[in-house]
Amino acid sequence: MCGIVGYIGHRPCINIIFDGLKKLEYRGYDSAGIAVLHQGEILVSKESGKIDNLKPSIAKLPQDARVGIGHTRWATHGLPTKENAHPHEAEHLTLIHNGIIENYKELKQELLNKGIKFRSETDTEVVAHLVAEELKVTPKPIAALQNVIKRLEGAFSLAFIVDRIPDEIFVAKQGSPLVVGLGQGETFFGSDITAFVNFTQKAVFLQDGDIAQISAEGLKLWDKNGNTLPTKITHVQWSPGSADKQGFKHYMLKEIHEQPRVVSATTQAFVKGNSLDLAALGLEKIDFKKIKTLHIVACGTAYYAGMTAKYFIEPLLGISVNVELASEFRYRDPFLMPDGQTMVMAISQSGETADTLACVKHAKDKGCQIFSICNVNYSSIVRESDSALMMLAGPEIGVASTKAFTSQVLCAYLWTLGVAQKLGRISQDELSSIITELKTLPLYLDQALNAEEYIVDLASKLYAYPNFLFIGRGMSSIIALEGALKLKEISYIHAEGYAAGELKHGPIALVDKQIPIVAILPHDHYFEKTLSNVEEICAREGQVYGLGDEKDARLKEICVQVIPCPQMKNPVFQAILSTVGVQFLAYHIAVKRGTDVDQPRNLAKSVTVE
Ligand code: M6R
Repeated sequence: MCGIVGYIGHRPCINIIFDGLKKLEYRGYDSAGIAVLHQGEILVSKESGKIDNLKPSIAKLPQDARVGIGHTRWATHGLPTKENAHPHEAEHLTLIHNGIIENYKELKQELLNKGIKFRSETDTEVVAHLVAEELKVTPKPIAALQNVIKRLEGAFSLAFIVDRIPDEIFVAKQGSPLVVGLGQGETFFGSDITAFVNFTQKAVFLQDGDIAQISAEGLKLWDKNGNTLPTKITHVQWSPGSADKQGFKHYMLKEIHEQPRVVSATTQAFVKGNSLDLAALGLEKIDFKKIKTLHIVACGTAYYAGMTAKYFIEPLLGISVNVELASEFRYRDPFLMPDGQTMVMAISQSGETADTLACVKHAKDKGCQIFSICNVNYSSIVRESDSALMMLAGPEIGVASTKAFTSQVLCAYLWTLGVAQKLGRISQDELSSIITELKTLPLYLDQALNAEEYIVDLASKLYAYPNFLFIGRGMSSIIALEGALKLKEISYIHAEGYAAGELKHGPIALVDKQIPIVAILPHDHYFEKTLSNVEEICAREGQVYGLGDEKDARLKEICVQVIPCPQMKNPVFQAILSTVGVQFLAYHIAVKRGTDVDQPRNLAKSVTVE
């Protein structure tokens, strides 16, 4: 969590850093700060609350400063106060940090024993003082940094400036992401490329253990043992502007509307004619003949994408699939077969989620084959994997995951079909017919998006209810879970998702007129069964809003209202279409309630702490 940004070059840096922080606000947004180095002096501006709160105080900084660092925080050690906001000062330097220093207490005690005074409760200030102390005996900042880093346990990316060194910034990476952007006579860095992609698309992704000295001319790089390293430049493909709101009120709304485009881009990347591009799907490095068990690990919405995948992987590949929350899997000593007989599939939009990453590392140590589905190239999970399928969702900024879910489900499906194709478990006719239908999915998604106006109206009727229930069967039971998660995370309404068949085993006791129930009711082979469950609810005066075919007479008769959703034959594509309905419902209810949709309270986009 937390986002870091920096700039050194020929332009005034304050606005560049401020804009970079705004791009990284998804990583944390409870306090923020900027420090600039100007005429041998470091000047700091920081505030609690949103990044915009910085505007009055950064206006007082020297506007022609050309070297600076910035930070947006998601509190881990200490409340989100101004004192705990970064940057943190220690003698002649000022430092920012993303991550957690696990042994900070003992290091702090050592510094307290030396008489050093602390102004904050953060682990970061400990690092700032350690570097300041080291600089007294090792005046070269890179050498000082190397010595300090050897003592730090945990995950971090950090950067600092020193008042007597006007033309350099010093950075280090261990476990948390850090990427440097190279311009003409100017250099940027950030927790991800969105911080600077509007200025340059030439990026250097630092690896764990790397330390760098950044100047306007570029960077010099060392590994943790002090050996110089070559800089490997990547030309990133996200275009300038792809991380902007593009006229939508919120990133979440823009990202819901991007889903047809995400599906088209995914289809173009992985489908060749009437079959699948096995190399692009990351299949070539996997030895399928060996695999006896498959575990999917993920968190939150990505976990629901994994649960959806279980519904198609088991029948298509004839293998049993265990889908598990990464935070549980990593600590429960799961049974994993050695020599690649177990495959672990990690699903993560960010590729940086700490729990998922820990599962990947653990499984790798145990000799499993590791495959990941991620949206962020060069992310930690991608780098730890034997092979990866890169999603084509583009930057997802809204904390609530929307287009990433669609992309994860679709990528997992295409990957599964690719494996089935490779193993001869699917006929060419079956594959061709799925691909033909896939090519129409963007059109159906456009239709699903057309239901927005209707859902705005429904949201204005339902937004004041304190509790909601979402139900469905088959993959729709997972979309029910995803709908409940979306609603609670952005509207702060209590919501539960249930497999409709489970209602009578307990939750039906909740049913009365005061709890709206959203039933996901596509025309699939579960339809009759789910309809019976809806009848049971209606018999108890429950009010059901059916997400399904608006022309279906039985739905119209039994539901208070039908939320229109186009219908497709393929259950995976149908699950994607149903998802749009629950995303819109959560979004418009949250807007009616006036919550902070893109940055809901207590959350951050990328959960890089356990
Ligand atoms: O980056 P990841 O996909 O690994 O993130 C996993 C979850 O933290 C994420 O999906 C979270 O649940 C979303 N806020 C849900 O909308």
